Amino acid sequence: MHYEVAPLFCRPWTLNGITPKLIESHYENNYGACVARLNAISHELRALDRSAASPQIVYRLKQEQAETLSSALLHELYFASLGGDGRNIPEAMAAVIARDFGSVDSWRNEFMSMATALDGRSGWVLLAWAPRLRRLINLCVGDACPMAPGCIPVLVLDMYEHAYHLDFGANASAYIAAFMRNIDWNAVEARYLDAAAIKPPRALEQEAFAALPSITVAEVSTLQRTGAPVQIIDVRPQHYSSKATDMMAGAVWRDPERVDEWIGALSKDTPIVTFCVYGFHIGCETTAKLREAGFDARYMAGGHSAWKASRGAVKLFRSDTPPETSDE
Ligand SMILES: [Fe+2]
Repeated sequence: MHYEVAPLFCRPWTLNGITPKLIESHYENNYGACVARLNAISHELRALDRSAASPQIVYRLKQEQAETLSSALLHELYFASLGGDGRNIPEAMAAVIARDFGSVDSWRNEFMSMATALDGRSGWVLLAWAPRLRRLINLCVGDACPMAPGCIPVLVLDMYEHAYHLDFGANASAYIAAFMRNIDWNAVEARYLDAAAIKPPRALEQEAFAALPSITVAEVSTLQRTGAPVQIIDVRPQHYSSKATDMMAGAVWRDPERVDEWIGALSKDTPIVTFCVYGFHIGCETTAKLREAGFDARYMAGGHSAWKASRGAVKLFRSDTPPETSDE
């Protein structure tokens, strides 16, 4: 495809302490060269004889294409971040920033610190929406620091020297302050609203157990940490557990094939958490049986593997762990 130069978003003559000459030079020379390079690389890729080209050449061109595309898009967002007075953050936007950073001042402090740390180096500082986390985060992006996958920048600061040298010389701090004075918060908020409307990556859905209550490993960890009463039952299958060396601290192992033999020892007054190896059928089926029998049971999503991946405490595996010693 052919990449078009995006028209300049901000009005250079309205900026406070940043000259039109700097913006023009940045837009025409640096951004323009970036788009031209992007098109040249893309043309080179289209013209490449894939049957004869070495994988190394394809890799190098694709890497350059990714770098120039990233630079072009970030430049467009940089120019689109300028043009406001930097002060009047819409109330709803300020509330989101305060929710995710503690306060607007905390966000500003972190954002400016990151920019200051790039003084003398090259990179971008971004305020971005992370759909996976459902929150805003500040990111540094550059050669040694790629964009976190899926994150959507809503505010972009260019910390390459060409972005400020013409007006500010080597005084990056003055440039950062000038950038903050010119942020167009209405445009930032509009981009945030667009970004926040994007759905996060889909979670695993187990249609067969959609109605079955589950609990996360983090929630189980909290129950254990706070000493909340809970009966945690490891129901990994016998053929798996016979080779297991560890199990969740605080859990007891019970054979899922023999629920009828141990169900009578459980208390109906205390919630139950069951888990299998990965959180699929065995844990869910055991939970369903316990709920049918009138117990307040939930299965732990992700099972024993998710517990270990989240660095949950484990102990040596014992198939005969008595309940009263399960909180070791
Ligand atoms: Fe730039």
